[in-house]
Amino acid sequence: MTLLLAATAVRENAYAPYSRFKVGAAIRAASGVTYVGCNVENVAYPEGTCAEAGAIAAMIAAGDTRIAEVCVIADSPDPVPPCGGCRQKIAEFADPDVPVSLCTTDGARKTMTVSDLLPGLFTAAHMDRT
Ligand code: THU
Repeated sequence: MTLLLAATAVRENAYAPYSRFKVGAAIRAASGVTYVGCNVENVAYPEGTCAEAGAIAAMIAAGDTRIAEVCVIADSPDPVPPCGGCRQKIAEFADPDVPVSLCTTDGARKTMTVSDLLPGLFTAAHMDRT
């Protein structure tokens, strides 16, 4: 299954009763295995989690640690961009040139790199004086 199909399928399982905005994410790890996640909202709104975070958690739980490609899909008018926090979460496990495809349910697709999405990211090197 392509990453887009995997993200599209898992999006159906999103739990988004508050925003009604379902998001699906699929990650291909360096091992070649695909991991998926969807957003999981909560009545205590800040406790909700993004689709990308779910896919990353599945990847780490399975023992993979490097991301080779990401695909995110939602029913949005323009290709859905990962939120700021998810950009930093993706960057933790992906090289700057890793492609991230931003997709809509009506077929639009925009591919960017991790460094396009998060220029000037915070890294461990910023803590070198500690
Ligand atoms: N959402 C994601 O799952 N990923 C993103 O990168 C953007 C936002 C979810 C969180 C929340 O459940 C809903 O979309 C509306 O913000």
